Amino acid sequence: MKLIHLTDTHLVEPDQILYGLNPLERLNLAVASINSLHADADQVVITGDLTHWGQLGAYHALHESLAALKPAYTLILGNHDNRDLFRSVFSNALEDENGFVQGVQETAVGQFLFLDTNQPGTHSGWYCANRLHWLSEQLKRSGDTPKYIFMHHPPFEVALEPMDRIGLVQRDEFLQVLRPYLGSVRHLFFGHVHRPISGSWNGVPFSTLRGTNHQVWLDFTAQGDIPGSHEPPAYGVVLINGETVLVHTHDFLDQSLKFSLGAQMPQAV
Ligand SMILES: [Fe+2]
Repeated sequence: MKLIHLTDTHLVEPDQILYGLNPLERLNLAVASINSLHADADQVVITGDLTHWGQLGAYHALHESLAALKPAYTLILGNHDNRDLFRSVFSNALEDENGFVQGVQETAVGQFLFLDTNQPGTHSGWYCANRLHWLSEQLKRSGDTPKYIFMHHPPFEVALEPMDRIGLVQRDEFLQVLRPYLGSVRHLFFGHVHRPISGSWNGVPFSTLRGTNHQVWLDFTAQGDIPGSHEPPAYGVVLINGETVLVHTHDFLDQSLKFSLGAQMPQAV
């Protein structure tokens, strides 16, 4: 199975720029790259912050841009999104019994769980009692089936204070629900931090990556204000088989020289 992981597209109205960049142009270039290199992907998943201000025009622009994607796509929400306006444009989006943008997909490699951590009025992640109950029910049903979780906010701190300040509030409750099933979670994909980070959490491997527009600069001393940057955008190419989950990241706008490492003889400097 091949997945493409995109995150934090932060679209604004098509005639607006954001932090000196054009998010729609960036997304369109990502779509073109995916169509050119990964038209065979099983799906593209965007892990939230689809828009920056939750504008209706931004969701329409997103819909139009993604209509050009050759693979199917699945969307979840981030803290910058507006659930009602999102749903007014993406009428076929995921929806659980309480109206959250959550769902389960049964796939050839296991179960994909898509979670909604958006809470109106805050940039922090939120996983309320209704969502915890829904997740608990899905987990009970799936038992030992291999699971892959997709969510916007990481369910743990990432050692970057400005991002942890707007992290998932119900970390303890989330872990408590997931704990009996941790052994069957093969990978956790998230967004929100606009940086490449990988590792493991309670034994669960995870990865996230840079967004398609602006990034968060790596500054372990920053407090309060989030340090932004124009580091290059990326998408993830995820290859899953029965035993291995590989996560490559591709800087799809990279223009640096490409060459064969075998073609050059040793040269004196
Ligand atoms: Fe974001």
